[in-house]
Amino acid sequence: MSAAAGHPVPEPRACVIGWPVAHSRSPLIHNYWLRHYRLAGTYDRAAVPPEELDTFLRGLGANGYVGCNVTVPHKEAAFSLIARPDAIARRLKAVNTLWLEGGEIAGTNTDIYGFLASLDAQVAGWDAKPGAAVILGAGGAARAVAAALGERWPGPLYIVNRSPERARRLAADLQLDARIGGQEDLAGALAGAGLLVNTTSLGMVDQPALEFDLSPLPRAAAVCDIVYVPLETGLLAAARRRGHPVADGLGMLLHQAVPGFARWFGRSPEVTAGLRRYIAADIAAALAAAGEGR
Ligand SMILES: NC(=O)c1ccc[n+]([C@@H]2O[C@H](COP(=O)([O-])OP(=O)(O)OC[C@H]3O[C@@H](n4cnc5c(N)ncnc54)[C@H](OP(=O)(O)O)[C@@H]3O)[C@@H](O)[C@H]2O)c1
Repeated sequence: MSAAAGHPVPEPRACVIGWPVAHSRSPLIHNYWLRHYRLAGTYDRAAVPPEELDTFLRGLGANGYVGCNVTVPHKEAAFSLIARPDAIARRLKAVNTLWLEGGEIAGTNTDIYGFLASLDAQVAGWDAKPGAAVILGAGGAARAVAAALGERWPGPLYIVNRSPERARRLAADLQLDARIGGQEDLAGALAGAGLLVNTTSLGMVDQPALEFDLSPLPRAAAVCDIVYVPLETGLLAAARRRGHPVADGLGMLLHQAVPGFARWFGRSPEVTAGLRRYIAADIAAALAAAGEGR
């Protein structure tokens, strides 16, 4: 609490809500920026079970929050509960960033911004390559990636998923003109492509490996894996060995946090090498602990 002209002004307070939420790195990111910019404010975690989401959101302001991040499994439910979803949230039918506006909850989805800002920062000229952009996967994260590439990628989109039906639904929902394929179509999709993005959970710690032959992919094509635990996935390591420009998933995680921080705490923060090192160290520590626990 700080005093302005004798009136106590509450420090801005935000949080991340999820169920479970202990794994979320959002508190590390936002508290790093609060310390770095010496700003008054706090950011914590709130474990909110699905049946309490409505009550939690109704009480957001009364409980002293200026807003919150929303993580799994609440992104779609929170979208349907808030009064003021913006156009991006309405497009994805999911929110990850909420704030109060005239007593009502407004919300957006910053994953599109985070994905594009991360590629811009990690691979100069990534969106000026010929060929298709191949998206592996059609889950929640794939929606933001496909919408982002629908905006920026100059060539065709090709979505390959274990369940092609889910990919077809994704393209229809987002009104994207995309080719759809199953795993057996991957080699054909990679031939002549300019970008490959993995949005499946394969390659993540405790998940099966993502294994396929990269050789049909032209070496100039950029390769992005949005999985960030581990930071260097098998796909990224294989792509580096072949000389592809690569972008890891940590960039998306860090950049998607920027708009929320700016809104809640009044300063647009930078994604610096120091922040990357700080979160990468936490990921490495979590992996080491998971290894010891096995
Ligand atoms: N970097 C970031 O900021 C960021 C943001 C969001 C998510 N992520 C990461 O992205 C990954 C996906 O998250 P999500 O929320 O989109 O998950 P999700 O909604 O559960 O989707 C999972 C995707 O992986 C596919 N998949 C799962 N197991 C498979 C298997 N054994 N074989 C083939 N395909 C399989 C699914 O295919 P089916 O449709 O056939 O089931 C689906 O396409 C996670 O690792 C998450 O941590 C990163």
